[in-house]
Amino acid sequence: MALAAAGDVEGALQACAGVLERDPFYLPAIDLTLDLLIHRGDGQGALVVAQTALAEGMESFTLHNTLGLVAKARGEAEEALARFALAQAQDPAEGDTALRRAIMLLERDDPAQAGECLLIHCEAVPDDPGAWLQAATVLTHFNHPQVAAPFVHSYARLSEPGAERDHRLAALGAGPMPARQSAQMVRQVFDKNAAGYDANLAALDNRGVELAREALAAVLGAGSGDLVVVDAGCGTGLVGPVLRPYARQLIGIDLSPAILAEAEARGVYDTLAEGDVTAMPLPEGQVDLIYCADVLTYLGDLAPVLDSFARALSPAGRVIISTEPPPAGAGEVHLGPSGRYAHSGDYLRKLSESAGLAHETLFAGRALRLEYGHRVRADVTLLSRPFPLD
Ligand SMILES: C[S@@+](CC[C@H](N)C(=O)[O-])C[C@H]1O[C@@H](n2cnc3c(N)ncnc32)[C@H](O)[C@@H]1O
Repeated sequence: MALAAAGDVEGALQACAGVLERDPFYLPAIDLTLDLLIHRGDGQGALVVAQTALAEGMESFTLHNTLGLVAKARGEAEEALARFALAQAQDPAEGDTALRRAIMLLERDDPAQAGECLLIHCEAVPDDPGAWLQAATVLTHFNHPQVAAPFVHSYARLSEPGAERDHRLAALGAGPMPARQSAQMVRQVFDKNAAGYDANLAALDNRGVELAREALAAVLGAGSGDLVVVDAGCGTGLVGPVLRPYARQLIGIDLSPAILAEAEARGVYDTLAEGDVTAMPLPEGQVDLIYCADVLTYLGDLAPVLDSFARALSPAGRVIISTEPPPAGAGEVHLGPSGRYAHSGDYLRKLSESAGLAHETLFAGRALRLEYGHRVRADVTLLSRPFPLD
C-alpha cells in the first residue's frame, strides 16, 4: 500500500504477489493488484486476475469495476454496463463508476436508467452536495432537464447559499445568468484542484499546449526572445514553456494561489502575480503580448477584461485569446451546465471594437479536451491595435 501511494507501481505489484503467494484469496491484495495493473495499462493482465478471482467465488467492487473498464476499452458496451452495475451494487458510494455507467446509458439515449444509476450513488452519499451537482450537471449536459430537476433541487437544498450556488444553479437553468464566475468561486475551485490539475487535463486529452504553439507560430513565427509577455490566467503554467522563447520578460497572472504555486514550481516565469485579468496588476502600455487561453470562459461579460488588456498593451502589442463557441441557437453569451461561458464570434468582434482592438479569427472550433465524452471546442482570436489610417 505504501509503495503504491509512493508511486512505485512495480514494487507494489511485487509486494502484492508476495502476499498472494502466502494467501491466494486475500482480497485486498487482489484489489490492489487490479488497480495497479489498470494504472499500468495492462488490461489483459487485469482481466486474467479478475476472472480467476471471480471463478474462485470472490466478489468485490474492484473485481467487477476492473472487468467493466477492460470491457469498455475493448468496445464491449453490454458487458461493461453489466459489470459497472455489479460494481455499483457492491459500493454505491463510488462516484466515478456511477458517472461512467450513467454516461454510457446517456450515450445510448437511456436517461431514465442513467437517472436511476445516479440516484443510487447520490443516495449513498446523501449529504454531499457535490454528488447531486455532478448528477444534475451530466444530465443537463446531455439535455435531459426533467430528469435533472430533482438532482438540481437536492443540490440547492444541500449547498451553502452564496455566489457559487447561484452560479451553479444558473448554469443548470435554475436562475438568472451572472456576469461572471466570482473571483472567490474561481479561487476555491482551482485551489482545490491545483495538485492534480495537470494529470486531470492529460486524462481529458487536453490540447491547449499544441494550440498555443500553433497560434504563436501563426502570429509571431519563431520566438524572438525580446517581448514582454503576460500569460493571463496562467494556471499551472502548462503554456509557459511555449511562451518562454518569445519573452524577454514572462509574467504569469492568476487568481488561485495554489495554482500559482504549481506554476512557480515549473521555474519558467520571471514573475508570478495573484490578480484578476479584468484588472491586470501591471503598469499601462508595457505589454507586447498577452496570451489568455481557457480563461475567458469564466467571464460572461467580456467588456472589463478586454478594456484591461487594451490598457496593458504597448502600441504594437497583441493579444491572443481562446473562447468556447456557443451551441447552435444559443445567444451571444451562453452559460453552459459546466458553469463555463461561451461567446459568439459576433460578440467578440463587437466587444473588441469597443475596446479599440482589431479582431481576427485565427482558428475556429478547434478540438480542446473531452468533457463527459464530448469534445470541448475552442475559437482562437488575435486582437491588436489597429494601425491609424493616414
Ligand atoms: C482552465 S485554466 C487554464 C490555465 C492556462 N491558461 C492554460 O491554458 O493551461 C483557467 C485558469 O484561469 C484562472 N482564472 C479564471 N478566471 C480568472 C480571472 N478572472 N483572473 C485571473 N485568473 C483567472 C484560474 O484560476 C485557472 O488557473
